[in-house]
Amino acid sequence: MKMIVCVSENYAIGKGNGLLFSLPPDMKLFRETTMGKVIIMGRATLDSFPNGAALKNRVNIVLTRDKSFSRENVLAFNTVEDILEHIKKYPSDDCYVVGGAEIYKLFEPYCDEAVVTKVKKTVDADKFFFNIDENDDWEKYYESENMNHEGIDFVFCRYRKI
Ligand SMILES: NC(=O)c1ccc[n+]([C@@H]2O[C@H](COP(=O)([O-])OP(=O)(O)OC[C@H]3O[C@@H](n4cnc5c(N)ncnc54)[C@H](OP(=O)(O)O)[C@@H]3O)[C@@H](O)[C@H]2O)c1
Repeated sequence: MKMIVCVSENYAIGKGNGLLFSLPPDMKLFRETTMGKVIIMGRATLDSFPNGAALKNRVNIVLTRDKSFSRENVLAFNTVEDILEHIKKYPSDDCYVVGGAEIYKLFEPYCDEAVVTKVKKTVDADKFFFNIDENDDWEKYYESENMNHEGIDFVFCRYRKI
C-alpha cells in the first residue's frame, strides 16, 4: 500500500477542510497515479471533494465512525482492520492512501511507499503530515528537478520504507 500527499515545507496538508495549494501539475500526478486504482480516505477528505462526491474511475474506500454512512460509489468502513481485510483482494501496489491527516497516521504502518509533492513554502494550516524526512523508517529514493508553476516552487519525491 502507498501514500500520496502534497506537503508544504512544514508538512502542512490542509486548512478549513480544504487543500493549501491549487497546483495543476500535482493534480495531474494525483489523477494519473490513482486512476483505475483503489483510494483510501477519511470521511472529511471525501467531504472536501466537489459535492462530496467519489472520484471517478477509482474504487473509493472511506473510513468513518458513522455506521449508517452511505454515499454513491463509496465503500464505507468503520475500522482500519475492516479496510485492510477488504483490500486484500486488490494488489497492494494498487492501493493508495490519499488522506487526510488522521488517515495518513492510521495507515502509515501498513504503507511501504510514499508519493510526495513537496511545495517549497511554509504555510499556515490546521492539518499536517508527519515529518517523513526525519523519520528513520523512511528514505527518499527519488527527487525531481525543481519545478515552478505560477510562482510556486515544488518537487516530486518518492520515499520507501526501510
Ligand atoms: N495535501 C494533501 O495531499 C491532502 C490530501 C488529503 C486531504 N488533505 C486535507 O486534509 C484535511 C482533512 O484531513 P482530516 O485529518 O481532517 O480528516 P480525514 O483524515 O480525511 O478524515 C477524518 C475522519 O475519518 C474518520 N476516522 C478517523 N479515524 C477513524 C477511526 N479510527 N475509525 C473510524 N473512522 C475514523 C472520521 O470520520 P467520521 O467523522 O465520519 O466518523 C474522521 O472524522 C483537509 O484539509 C484536506 O483538504 C490534504
